[in-house]
Amino acid sequence: MDSISLNGNKQTPEDFELQTKLKASGRIPEHIAIIMDGNGRWAKTKGNIRIFGHKAGVDSVRDATEVCAQLGVKYLTLYAFSTENWRRPSAEVSALMNLLVQALRRETKKLNENDIRLNAIGQIERFPKQCQKQLAEALEITKDNNRMQLCLALSYSGRWDITQAVRKIADAVKSGDINPEDIDDNLINDHLVTADIPDPDLIIRTSGEFRISNFLLWQLAYSELYITNTFWPDFRRDELYKAIESYQKRERRFGKISEQVAETSSST
Ligand code: FPP
Repeated sequence: MDSISLNGNKQTPEDFELQTKLKASGRIPEHIAIIMDGNGRWAKTKGNIRIFGHKAGVDSVRDATEVCAQLGVKYLTLYAFSTENWRRPSAEVSALMNLLVQALRRETKKLNENDIRLNAIGQIERFPKQCQKQLAEALEITKDNNRMQLCLALSYSGRWDITQAVRKIADAVKSGDINPEDIDDNLINDHLVTADIPDPDLIIRTSGEFRISNFLLWQLAYSELYITNTFWPDFRRDELYKAIESYQKRERRFGKISEQVAETSSST
């Protein structure tokens, strides 16, 4: 299964060696989340229209998925379409929907063969019927896979996620199923659409913007951030290795002091 391939090419011995070193040099994040940005600007640098950049971005999605599965990452979450992206020109929105349908048609079989489960979070019901159908099919086909979960954030925003959780909790309080004093971090977490997914260890944003842009607002409280100037269509495995190397050098204190962290890691 280590010989996973989503693009039909065999892994090179050099790449295998790089990954072996990375696994030996520190922890591989359990959950990586990516804000894929810069497709439009990438296309512009090539004198092309924006959708050309989105198309090239699909190749980066494939590469990132393959590498994460090879490295043993368990969850890869991609910000593929934000709630705010609905405000884009309708031609670009439709082109993105078509691209998603095409990608699902083309890639689901490969995901399944490689034991990767597809998941989707967001207001999927806002998507065109054809898109919803294709997505539902891919989710069903891959639902029993265990190697890695590839989660697409579609019509997703962090504020929407928190709002829908608050509504569900308010309903439960209203019907007497829970008391207001029962509301704590864990209960809120359990009502987010990511309830079954651990918080991201590493968040990557491409194209040099220092923003979270309404991504996993609650979930990223202690995530490590990695920002690169590279536009998403140019973001390939070498960049992902750099991001993980950077993550491995960080000391994650979760509010504690260095000495406490050292004590915990030596006792586990
Ligand atoms: C951001 O670049 C990218 C998006 C809003 C869409 C990302 C979509 C893909 C990579 C293709 C489809 C995805 C899947 C999962 C099959 P931008 O348009 O904001 O670029 P800009 O900031 O340069 O304008």
